Amino acid sequence: MQRPIEPFRIKMVEPLKMIGRQERDQIIRDAGFNIFKISAESVFIDLLTDSGTSAMSDYQWAGLMTGDESYAQCRNFFHLQETVQDITGFDHLIPTHQGRAAESILFSTILKEGDCVPNNIHFDTTRANVEYRRAEALNTVIDEAYDPESEVPFKGNIDLEKLESAIKQYGADRIPVVMVTVTNNSGGGQPVSMENIRRTKELCRKYDIMFFFDACRFAENCYFIKQREKGYQDKSIKVIAQEMFSYADGCTMSAKKDGLVNIGGFIALRDEDLARRLKNLLILTEGFPTYGGLAGRDLEAMSRGLEEVLQEDYLHYRIQQTAYLGWLLDQAGIPVMKPFGGHAIYVDAKKLVTHIPQSQFPGQALTVALYREGGVRAVEVGNMMFASRHTETGEWIYPDLDLVRLAIPRRVYTASHLEYAADALVRIKENIDALKGLKIIYEPPFLRHFTAILSEIG
Ligand code: F0G
Repeated sequence: MQRPIEPFRIKMVEPLKMIGRQERDQIIRDAGFNIFKISAESVFIDLLTDSGTSAMSDYQWAGLMTGDESYAQCRNFFHLQETVQDITGFDHLIPTHQGRAAESILFSTILKEGDCVPNNIHFDTTRANVEYRRAEALNTVIDEAYDPESEVPFKGNIDLEKLESAIKQYGADRIPVVMVTVTNNSGGGQPVSMENIRRTKELCRKYDIMFFFDACRFAENCYFIKQREKGYQDKSIKVIAQEMFSYADGCTMSAKKDGLVNIGGFIALRDEDLARRLKNLLILTEGFPTYGGLAGRDLEAMSRGLEEVLQEDYLHYRIQQTAYLGWLLDQAGIPVMKPFGGHAIYVDAKKLVTHIPQSQFPGQALTVALYREGGVRAVEVGNMMFASRHTETGEWIYPDLDLVRLAIPRRVYTASHLEYAADALVRIKENIDALKGLKIIYEPPFLRHFTAILSEIG
């Protein structure tokens, strides 16, 4: 595969520091074998997340200077509203400081105890926000999503039969909203097809249920539709996005992904009455409805980012870059999820680290090894993040996949950085038996992975 070519040149640089191996070993121990606790300055290549880590363009930086910091009705809100309306067709825009604030406001307003929210696969904050309101967060993705080797092109699709039987089981009145996450982050950054979106909408219409996108990576999803779905090859990304959003009643958005900004998010929707109710809560928790927890300049950077993310040369490079990392690992015999996702490559830790039992967090052990080996930070998306305990027996219930995600910040790293990270993983694979299992010493009641403290076994 060809090295991807970056469709930008570098105008400003941020030095990276490579610290010695012995020091890294001490740092990961001091961090309780939890990569979230390592100081960012001690990381050489940070593939922890693609969220809020983008490099902004000169156009976006210039936009910051046009920030209107008026408390009410600042001009940047109207620019953002215009941009969001143009892409989504949703009339009402409610800015929030990031995605989970949007989720919290939406779910606080529409959920009651015992309700259910189906999704292809809930991201962890979405799940936690649903469960916090004592409702059920149900995953209804197609079975292939759980098979890392299945090469189906739209592995993020909703299984419509699973969705319909959930609707029948719960009753439509207990399902205030159906969500579809584009791309499906927790299932490997896999796209959802336009046909599946259309059919999900039809099902929601049949039962009179609202349909929302978790739209963090909507542009990447649209690029995959253009590449893989019949009838979309000659359409622009924007036209594809407009069609995609036309099927939904609204969306929550973390603009820290496809908004190409370091902070920001929003809810956008059609229903005026619901928008009013959401704004009431927004004022209580985030801020006045035209800034929602952000500065005017942040709103400007977001609206410019949303324009830029639709550019095809950018998206081509973006998806190629991720595929390049996947290809490097695949060539070296490292089991990775296929097809390659949009924003990240997911290593199948269950397959790579076979000598560590599930109860000892093989994926987490791999993230520890990556930091030790190369100062590379990746995140486990598996047992540490999602395993739960049976309410009666207390036994662990593990998720189907134990993955390690190498997420690629947008416009930040070059092809050589990715080659460096891939080399570190290849060296780990050559000496895989050296990896040790982990046990939990401390865990919080929810979102365990952020703050848990672990120790090495043996
Ligand atoms: N939904 C999805 C699909 C996400 O990937 C995220 C964040 C959120 C919602 C929440 O947005 O962080 O702005 O509050 N994902 C990040 C990640 C954290 O690393 O994948 P947020």
